[in-house]
Amino acid sequence: SIRRVHARRVWDSRGRPTVEVEITTGNGAMGRAIAPAGASMGSGEAVDRRDGGSAFGGLDVQDALRAIRTEIAPAVAGMDAADQAGVDGRLIQLDGTPNKSRLGGNATIAVSMAAAHATAAAHDMPLWRWLAGSAADGPVVMPLPEIQIFGGGAHADARVDLQDFMVVCPGAASFAQALDWTAEVYRAAGALMAADGRRQGVADEGGWWPVFADNEEAIATLARAIEKAGFQPGEEVAIALDVAASQFGRDGAYRLRLDERDYGRDEWAERVAGWVDRHPIVSVEDPMGEDDPAGMAAVTAAIGDRALVVGDDFLVTSAQRIQTAAADRACNAALIKPNQAGTLTETKAAFDAARAAGMRTIVSARSGETEDVTVVHLAVGWQADQLKVGSFARSERMAKWNEALRIEEALGERARFRAARIFPRTG
Ligand code: PGA
Ligand code: ZN
Repeated sequence: SIRRVHARRVWDSRGRPTVEVEITTGNGAMGRAIAPAGASMGSGEAVDRRDGGSAFGGLDVQDALRAIRTEIAPAVAGMDAADQAGVDGRLIQLDGTPNKSRLGGNATIAVSMAAAHATAAAHDMPLWRWLAGSAADGPVVMPLPEIQIFGGGAHADARVDLQDFMVVCPGAASFAQALDWTAEVYRAAGALMAADGRRQGVADEGGWWPVFADNEEAIATLARAIEKAGFQPGEEVAIALDVAASQFGRDGAYRLRLDERDYGRDEWAERVAGWVDRHPIVSVEDPMGEDDPAGMAAVTAAIGDRALVVGDDFLVTSAQRIQTAAADRACNAALIKPNQAGTLTETKAAFDAARAAGMRTIVSARSGETEDVTVVHLAVGWQADQLKVGSFARSERMAKWNEALRIEEALGERARFRAARIFPRTG
């Protein structure tokens, strides 16, 4: 049972305050988790509690810490930490809002994840193993890493409109090999940028800072980097985009900064489909705005047989939105971010809804991260298709990739990797 809930302020990868929680159980097991933070957030997400005022740009989390100490800790004291649904239900009830805005999604997700870690620790198991249950004793499929090479959008001052120019390795035989290949592509892309006098550092998630005149030029440069690294584009290593279109699209109008023009819904959907025609792209996230289900359905109708159309801001890790999107054929894959939902139980419900609807699943970190590796354990424990945590640089990202390497090694012969079948083009 939960004996102690301790909350402290720590700092994230952008140097901003965030919430860390430690839960100790009656037998002395301790679990720790840290809340991440997004920059390009869907309007339907759980809301972080931030203090406002002048300190740290108004981003301090003292109110969230106080909510944990004075309300959450007494409310969950004595509960069974292993009863995740019970603990999360208490958090939801105590908060009383649809978006966790009273206690703060940063408070609730840190407590929820810490309870899971405490339970795993009490059972002397890695978290993924606790989550997988008896399935952990059979073959375990490692998720396919989806890794950013150029960062853009809200993570790079809108230097380019698109947010993530990523690679996946459908041709890799293991998680470790996918990382090996991605490391070569990341290096090749950096060398290409340097040769063109365009290497100007890295964006928020560690991807190269995008010095491009045009969004499609960035896509083409990524395809060149894949070839330069010695891989067959589209077969061994392929491109995945996160357009994050809610950042520049509203009411069916898409205002591109680089293109210096507006696109209507149909025009923009055709432009995205054109990229998929011309480049080795196997996955496109949030191609249309979160308020544009008709646009999402149009893109899915146009490219859904050739690429994954992933909902992130569009679905905000909500089981209900995922069911609606599935009925509307608005996308065929779901990004799953625990802090969009605010508790692990709601996150798992969204994951299960996506799987039940036949969607591909991608467990994802946020642009504001820490050394916390919970998402890796969720991806393995729940058997997600993919894992997205940013680029192949900076330790808040590498901590996740390295944790997955440890898990794959520990699995040994039981580890499986089925990358190609995830995508319509390679499956
Ligand atoms: P965020 O970006 O964490 O800044 O929201 C990640 C994403 O859009 O996938
Ligand atoms: Zn996204």
